[in-house]
Amino acid sequence: MPWPYSLKCFNCHTPYPTRTTDHSCSKCGGLLEIAFDISSRRIPWRNRSLGVWKYREILPVDDDRYITSLDEGGTGLHHCGRLGREIGLKKLYVKNEGENPTGSFKDRGMTAAISKAREMGKRKLVCASTGNTAASLAAYSAKAGLECIVFVPAGKVARGKMLQVIMHGARIFQINGDFDQAMASVIELTEHGKAFYMMNSLNPFRLEGQKTLAYEVCDQLNSRAPDALVLPVGNGGNISAIWKGFNELHELGIATSRPRMIGIQAEKAAPIAKAVKKGQNRITPVANPQTLATAIRIGSPVNWTKVLQAIKESKGTAETVSDREILAAQKDLAAKEGIFVEPASAASIAGLRKMRESGDIDRSEVVVCVTTGHGLKDPSVAEHLRQHESYNLKITEPDWIRRVERIL
Ligand code: F0G
Repeated sequence: MPWPYSLKCFNCHTPYPTRTTDHSCSKCGGLLEIAFDISSRRIPWRNRSLGVWKYREILPVDDDRYITSLDEGGTGLHHCGRLGREIGLKKLYVKNEGENPTGSFKDRGMTAAISKAREMGKRKLVCASTGNTAASLAAYSAKAGLECIVFVPAGKVARGKMLQVIMHGARIFQINGDFDQAMASVIELTEHGKAFYMMNSLNPFRLEGQKTLAYEVCDQLNSRAPDALVLPVGNGGNISAIWKGFNELHELGIATSRPRMIGIQAEKAAPIAKAVKKGQNRITPVANPQTLATAIRIGSPVNWTKVLQAIKESKGTAETVSDREILAAQKDLAAKEGIFVEPASAASIAGLRKMRESGDIDRSEVVVCVTTGHGLKDPSVAEHLRQHESYNLKITEPDWIRRVERIL
């Protein structure tokens, strides 16, 4: 059973019934948010194994029978000694979300949202996606036996993600527009036809699953929060959810501090980073956003109000990185730490490097970079690699061992 919780507008605090499928406030248009009553709770989960449902009490699904899980969460928090030394950090950790069942952090949110969807009797689940949300929703819908409908920007989704969506049997609409237009279409569709249930990060139940990353990091650092948490930002659901998690951990008395939240965006798709750098309290959407990190090719992030608040409250910041910096960081992490992530995820490492160079992050800080998706999802980056050294070898020739020895 979950602890008591309510649903309210993030902006004007108007309460809503917890079984609603609404995602915005009918009074002010603000986003909705779950609030748990946690201040005087005893922690029951100390001896449970790591994973999203370890923290069952802070997940808003009322009846265990509806829980649909592929064993998500419990991802590694890897101490990156080699890369840390090079970047100039004593304690660099990577929370590698590519280790989730469909290869991205989306699974944390999807297990919560799909369980809630089942509890509410929803049968047609829909999302707009740059790929990972679609892959995750498709997998969880398959497990739950529900219909999955995805809207994706035609030709702009990495091949591995499309393959996942197809394999899991989703209905696919390739739209003639970018992600922001796909998102707007899905909002229109779900507002028009109430049978369709929105599974994007506007869905407040999904964000509750995603906040468990904060709980896990804190567990893995022996009940400590890091000094800074660095992650890529697209629509802004993840950074908001993780910040909410750290706030809860603080309120529960599990962690005595909270990290600075640092959002990284691709240079030509950076409405949030631009607003943060200019000290503005609104974003200006970017028309026609561009980056090879297709997962975060987003110009009009729907969760921007929550993101700006998370960054401000946490005394965090935001940074932009170029595609070249992203590719270099992706290769660094793979070749120096054995962790292969997709380009959007590498943005966090690229941003961290930049912030160490500028001194915005200090050498002594405990830093956790969240790498959000697995590298195998996007094989197109191979085109950008320098010619990799490899040798043709005729093992039918008698002196082949000598040849190998000569080369090495
Ligand atoms: N990293 C990856 C690998 C992503 O797929 C996404 C978002 C993000 C970071 C950004 O997260 O939107 O919560 O700020 N992908 C969405 C999708 C948009 O459709 O898969 P965010």
